Amino acid sequence: MFAATILSLFPEMFPGPLGLSLAGDALARGLWSLEARDIREHGLGRHRAVDDTPAGGGPGMVMRADVLAASLDAALQPDDARPRLIMSPRGAPLTQRQARQWAAGPGLVVVCPRFEGVDERVIAGRGLIEVSIGDYVLSGGEIAALVVLDACVRLIPGVMGKLESGTSESFEDGGLEYPHYTRPREWEGRAIPEVLLNGDHGKIARWRREQSERLTRERRPDLLRE
Ligand code: ADE
Repeated sequence: MFAATILSLFPEMFPGPLGLSLAGDALARGLWSLEARDIREHGLGRHRAVDDTPAGGGPGMVMRADVLAASLDAALQPDDARPRLIMSPRGAPLTQRQARQWAAGPGLVVVCPRFEGVDERVIAGRGLIEVSIGDYVLSGGEIAALVVLDACVRLIPGVMGKLESGTSESFEDGGLEYPHYTRPREWEGRAIPEVLLNGDHGKIARWRREQSERLTRERRPDLLRE
């Protein structure tokens, strides 16, 4: 079973949206599990401090290596084979391919940093993989962790209804998905493309491929160069 462990200063943010709809139903059905742990339980002193001022000076605070390592060590199971991620805008960008690989594995341990950053030594010392969800800065790793888990959980076998719905969508074969239509046949003067109404499945497949290629060329030419 895919087991997710989250380390956060705000564990009450979980499961959050992952407790509803597709992911939530799968959670209730036991297709995956989620444990959110409070890093502050390993904080130091009366105030349970988890951060300190940056060595060398500068703005903001840095999450302490010893505190985060203690939290991580307490969260890991014996012989825990799960990849250990830490959410960060300087990480490797999340991709559909990566989500598919993680979804096929034993689960994930995901650290959600707050503050200016995390002491670099815990990243190296605990083999944390830095992962970004895009080129913008969030106020903490929690929402990014929810994104990673959502992308993985929907790919766990049994979570999605049709096997197909996971394979013929954007990014799966390198491009963006073709446009969709349903009833009514005409809406506010806009008609469904004729080719979709004629039942010629060869023509329909070709039209969809062309549309997918056109959209990818127009919107994401970077995907074609890969
Ligand atoms: N934390 C802050 N910004 C982030 C981003 N873009 N991706 C992952 N984690 C983050």
